[in-house]
Amino acid sequence: MVILQQGDYVWLDLKTGREFDVPVGAVVKLCDSGQIQVLDDEGREHWISPQNATNIKPIHPTSIHGVEDMIRLGDLNEAGILRNLLIRYNERVIYTYTGSILVAVNPYQLLPIYTPDQIRLYTNRKIGEMPPHIFAIADNCYFNMKRNNKDQCCIISGESGAGKTESTKLILQFLAAISGQHSWIEQQVLEATPILEAFGNAKTIRNDNSSRFGKYIDIHFNKRGAIEGAKIEQYLLEKSRVCRQAHDERNYHVFYCMLRGMAPEMKAKLGLGRATDYSYLTMGNCTECDGRDDLSDYSSILSAMKVLMFTETESCEISKLLASILHMGNLRFEARTYDNLDACVVVRSPDLVTAASLMEVEPKDVMVCLTTRTLITRGESVTTPLSVEQGLDVRDAFVKGIYGRLFVWIVEKINAAIYRPPSCESGIIRRSIGLLDIFGFENFVVNSFEQLCINFANENLQQFFVRHVFKLEQEEYNLEDISWQHIEFTDNQDALDMIANKPMNIISLIDEESKFPKGTDATMLYKLNSQHKLNSNYMPPKNSYETQFGIQHFAGMVHYESRGFLEKNRDSLHTDIIQLVHSSKNKFIKQIFQADVAMGVETRKRSPTLSSQFKRSLEMLMRTLSVCQPFFVRCIKPNELKKPMLFDRELCIRQLRYSGMMETIRIRRAGYPIRYSFAEFVDRFRVLMPGVKPAHIQADLRGTCMQIVSAQLGKHEDWQIGKTKIFLKDHHDMQLEIERDKAITDKVILIQKVARGLKARTNFLRLRSAVIFIQKVWRGYRSRKNYQIMKSGFIRLQAVCRSRKFYRNYRITRHRITLLQARCRGFLIRQAFGRRLRAVLTIQAYTRGMIARRLCQRLRAERQHRLEAERQRLAEEELLRNQMTIRRAKAEAERKHQERLNQLAQQQEEREREEKEESRRKKELLEQMEREKEQPVDHSDMVDRMFGFLGDSGPLPNKDGQGPAGFEDLEKTPRGEEAEEVLNEAPPLPDEDEEDLSEYKFSKFAATYFQGVSTHTYIRRPLKQPLLFHEDEGDQLAALAVWITVLRFMGDLPEPKYQMVINDGSEKIPVMTKIYETLGKRTYKRELQELQVEGEVSSTDTQKRNSVRHKLVSLTLKRKSKITEEVTRRLTEGSDYVLQGNSMLEDRPTSNLEKLHFIIGNGILRPALRSEALLQSKTKLNTDDKSVESFNIGDMIYFIDTQEKS
Ligand SMILES: Nc1ncnc2c1ncn2[C@@H]1O[C@H](COP(=O)(O)OP(=O)(O)OP(=O)(O)O)[C@@H](O)[C@H]1O
Ligand SMILES: [Mg+2]
Repeated sequence: MVILQQGDYVWLDLKTGREFDVPVGAVVKLCDSGQIQVLDDEGREHWISPQNATNIKPIHPTSIHGVEDMIRLGDLNEAGILRNLLIRYNERVIYTYTGSILVAVNPYQLLPIYTPDQIRLYTNRKIGEMPPHIFAIADNCYFNMKRNNKDQCCIISGESGAGKTESTKLILQFLAAISGQHSWIEQQVLEATPILEAFGNAKTIRNDNSSRFGKYIDIHFNKRGAIEGAKIEQYLLEKSRVCRQAHDERNYHVFYCMLRGMAPEMKAKLGLGRATDYSYLTMGNCTECDGRDDLSDYSSILSAMKVLMFTETESCEISKLLASILHMGNLRFEARTYDNLDACVVVRSPDLVTAASLMEVEPKDVMVCLTTRTLITRGESVTTPLSVEQGLDVRDAFVKGIYGRLFVWIVEKINAAIYRPPSCESGIIRRSIGLLDIFGFENFVVNSFEQLCINFANENLQQFFVRHVFKLEQEEYNLEDISWQHIEFTDNQDALDMIANKPMNIISLIDEESKFPKGTDATMLYKLNSQHKLNSNYMPPKNSYETQFGIQHFAGMVHYESRGFLEKNRDSLHTDIIQLVHSSKNKFIKQIFQADVAMGVETRKRSPTLSSQFKRSLEMLMRTLSVCQPFFVRCIKPNELKKPMLFDRELCIRQLRYSGMMETIRIRRAGYPIRYSFAEFVDRFRVLMPGVKPAHIQADLRGTCMQIVSAQLGKHEDWQIGKTKIFLKDHHDMQLEIERDKAITDKVILIQKVARGLKARTNFLRLRSAVIFIQKVWRGYRSRKNYQIMKSGFIRLQAVCRSRKFYRNYRITRHRITLLQARCRGFLIRQAFGRRLRAVLTIQAYTRGMIARRLCQRLRAERQHRLEAERQRLAEEELLRNQMTIRRAKAEAERKHQERLNQLAQQQEEREREEKEESRRKKELLEQMEREKEQPVDHSDMVDRMFGFLGDSGPLPNKDGQGPAGFEDLEKTPRGEEAEEVLNEAPPLPDEDEEDLSEYKFSKFAATYFQGVSTHTYIRRPLKQPLLFHEDEGDQLAALAVWITVLRFMGDLPEPKYQMVINDGSEKIPVMTKIYETLGKRTYKRELQELQVEGEVSSTDTQKRNSVRHKLVSLTLKRKSKITEEVTRRLTEGSDYVLQGNSMLEDRPTSNLEKLHFIIGNGILRPALRSEALLQSKTKLNTDDKSVESFNIGDMIYFIDTQEKS
C-alpha cells in the first residue's frame, strides 16, 4: 500500500492496452479526500479511487527531475526513460546518455548549441564531464582514436526524420574543426554531402530531406590527427522513387534543382522545361519543398562537384542523363494487338526523340527496346511483343537502372576524389572514424523487400550493439573485480540465423528462387514456409491465399508482403536494354553500364542479386565495425508533424523499442543494474548509519560502504563491492532507497518537530506577552473606570450628605428667618399699620374735617343762599306790598322764593351729580391704572407715545409737534381752584442733597479723552478720526461712518446724489416706532434675553458667539431693506467689517430710519463703538441748535444709554 502525500511523484499506469503505452509520470495534487487526484506529465488530471491504487506506484527520486545518464535511473524501464527524455526535451535539452549511447531527440528548431564556442568547450573532454552532446561523442571518437590508436565508429540510427543525417553532419563538422587543418581534402570530404544529398535525398512525408540510401563515411586521419581522406559506402538506394512518388512526396532533389538552376541555353539544349512538365516529377503532386531553395542548392551542387573534381563534361553528361530520364518519363504508350497478343507502341513524341538523342541512341531502337522482348533459347532469339504495362515496366526499369548506376558512379567519383589508399610504407599507420548514417528499423502497414533488407541490417547492428554493451558490462565487471558468470542475456542471434546465417536461411531461399527460372513469389513463399514454419521467429501466412509472412525481429513482429520480392531482388536489366545502351554513342552512359555490358548474357543471369549484394556489403560493414570502438547515437523523432516542442509519447516509445536500447537495459538488469561510486554511495546512504561522516572527509570509503550495505542488506545478499563502485540489484537499491526515505523522513519529522515547536513556542510567547499587555491595559482601564465611578459615587454621596446637612441647616435657618421675618414683618406691619392707622385716622380726621368743612361751607353757603333768598323774599314782599295786597304780595314773594329755592336745589343736585361723575371717573382711572400696573410695560407703545410727535411732524427738521403721550397734561393749563386745592393739599416732597456736577462736565471729559483736535462741541463736517481711540481698524471706520450718518441724520451733510427713493413704506411710519418695532418688541426682548443667556452659557465658544452676534444683528436690523441687509451682512462678518466704499454712505440717500438703524446697530452691536456713538451724539447737544433733531439725538443718547446699561 502506497502512502501518498501531496506533491509526491508517481507512475500512473492507465492500462489502456495499447501497444506503445507505458505508465506516465504524475504528481499528486490532492489525497486527503477519499480519492487521489493526480496531474500527469501531459497536463491531464486523473482521479484515482483507493481500489485502483495498484495503478500507481511511487517514482524513483532519480526520475523526478531527470538525469543526464539514464543508466542512473532507479526506474530503468521504458516509462522511466521516456519521462526522462520528456523532462529534458521540455527544457530544450535534446541530448541524454544511456550508458555509452547518446539519445538525441530532434528539436525541429535551431538551438544555439552548435557554435564554435561549444566546439571549444567539448574539445578533449571525457564523456560525462560535460552535459550530453553530439560533440562529446565526436570528441571521444577523435581522442579515443588518437589515444588508443584504434579505429572508431559511430552508429547513428533512427527513424526517417529523426536527425541521423544532421547528426552525421554535425560530427563531420566537429571533426573537421578539431582536426584543425582546413585542408583541401577536408573541404572535399565536407563537400561530398551536398552532392550525395542532391542525388540520394528527397522530400518525403516524414522528412523534407530524407536520405533514400544508407551510407557509411569512413574518415581517415593521419598520425597527427588531421583528415587525410575518406571513403563513402552507400547502401540500397531507393531507385523506385525515380519513377514513383507517394502523395506529397518529391523525386530526388537533383531534378528540381537542375530545372530551377540550370542556365536557359543549357536547358534548351537538353530540351528541358519546368518541373511541372514531367510526369516523373509530379506524381506526388508536389514540386516545391518549403524550407529548401532549389536554385541556390543547384549552385552548391555544381560548386561541390567542382571541388570533388567532376569535370565539366561529366557534369554535363550527368545532366543529359537526368534530362533523358525526365523525357523518358513523359513517353506515352498505346495498346495494340498482334496475332492475338497484347502489344504496345510508343507514341512518337519530342520527348522520345530528345531522350534518344540525349542518350545518343536511335529513337527507333528505344521504341523497339521498350515494346518488345528478345528471348534467346537454345541459340535462337525470339521476339515477343509487350503489353502497355510491361512496356511501362521496362521503361521504368531502364530509368531506375540508369539512375541507380549513375548514383553508384557518383559515389565512386567522390571516393576517387577523397579516398587515398593506405600507403604501403610500413611505419605509417592510418586511423579512421566511421560514421554510419543508416535507416532504422521499419515496420509499415505494407512492408516489402526493401524493409526486409533494412530490418536485416538493423538486426545485424542490434547484434553488434548488444554484444558491445555486454562486452562493456563485462569489461566493467572485470575492471571492478566483480564475479559475473551467472549474468545471462538474450540476443537476437536466432533471428539473424534464420534470416541470413544458417543454411536455407530466408535470404538464401529468396536468392535461390530469384535465380530459378520458374521461380515466383508464391513458390518462394512456399519454400520459406516449409523451411521455417517451426521457427519461433517466423510466422507463416494464416492460409494458402495469404501472401504475407512474418518475422519476429528484436523490435517486434514485422509482416512482409511477398509479392514483388523476386523481381526486386533480381534487380537485373533485360538484355535488350543493355543492348540499347551498348548501341549508344554516349561514352558516359556506356561507362555507367560498363559492368553490365561487359558481362555476357549468361553471366548476367548469374550476377549477384540485390539481397546477396546487400548481404555482402553488410558483412563487410560489420567486419569494419567489429574492429572499431563503437559509439551509438539513437535519434528520436518527437512527433510526426515536424514541430518543435511537441512530444508524442507513443511515437517515442515505439522508437525507443526499435532502437534496441531496452536491450542495454535488460543486460544491465541481468547483472547489477545499480552502481554507485563509493563517494556517491556514502553521501546518499550515510543517513542510514548515524555517525557516518560525509564522503569528502572519509578516509576509508570502501569500508564505510561495506558497513552500510551489510548493515542494511545483510552480508550474504547478492550485492558486490568493486574497486571503485558498489554494485547492487534493483531490489537492493529499492530497499536502500526506502530505508533512506524513512530515515530522512524521520529526520525531517524531527527537524519539523523542533522547528514547529520553536515556531509555536515563539508564537505562544509573543501571544502571551501580547495577552499580558492587553490584560494589563484592560485591567488598568477597568480599575480607572471603577475608581472614577467610585470617586464620582463618593462625590455624589458627599454631595448628598452635604446637601442634606445644608438642607437641614437651611431649613432650620429658613425656619428661623421665616420666623424672624414673620416677627419683623409683623412688627413692621404692625408698626406700619399703626403708622398708617394713625395716618388714616389723621387723613380720615383731616378728610372728615375737610368734608365737614366742605359740608359746613356748603351748608354755610346754603344758609347764606337761603338767607339771601329769604332776604330777597322779604324785599320783594315789601316791594310788592305797594303794588298789591299784602297777602298777594306775600304769596307772590313766596312763589318766587320757592322758585329760587328750587333753582338752588337743582344746582345742588347738578353739583352732586358732577361730583359723583368725577369720583366715578377717578375710580375708573384708578382701576385702569391698577390694571395697567398688572400688565407688562409695552415699551413700543411707550416710545410711540413718547416719540409719536416726530411722526406727525414728518422727517423734515424744524417742525413742532405735539408732546409725547403722557405728557399732554404738561401742556394743559391747570384748572384754577381744584389744581390749587390739590397742590395746596399735596404733601411736600422730601428735600434731596444737591450734588455738585460741575466736576463731570462734558467739555472736561472731551478735553481729556477725545483724540486729536476734537472738542466737545458739535461740528458740521465729517470727522477726520474717531473721537475715541479704537484699536480695530473696522471700529475706526465704523466710527467715522456713524459720524457721517449722524451728520446726515441731522441734515448737516447732504445726502449722496443718487436719487433712488427707497419705498418700502417705512417713510410713513414714525422713525422711533420703527426702531421700537425692531428693538423694543417684547419678542425681541425675549429673544435677546435668550441669546444673551446662550451667549453666557457658551461664552468661550467663538463660533456660537458669532452666531449670537449674527442673530442679534439680524434681530436689531430686522427691517427688510437692502441697506440693512448689507449692514447686517457686514456686521456679521465681524472684525472684517470695513466701511470703506460703504454703499450706504456713498451710493444713495437713506431714510432716517435706516440711519438710525445704522447708528444704533453700530453703537449697540460693536461694543467698542458704543461710547463713540454716545459721545458723538452728545456733542450734538453741545450746539446752539435747539431743533427737534437735537431732541431726537437726546432720545438716541437715552436709548443707547439704556441699551448700554441693559
Ligand atoms: N540537431 C538538430 N537541430 C535542429 N534541427 C534538426 C536537428 N536534427 C534534425 N533536425 C531537423 O530534422 C530534419 C530531419 O533530419 P535528418 O534529415 O537528419 O533526418 P534523418 O534521420 O536523416 O531522416 P532520413 O532517414 O529520412 O534521412 C532536418 O531537416 C532538420 O530540420
Ligand atoms: Mg538522412
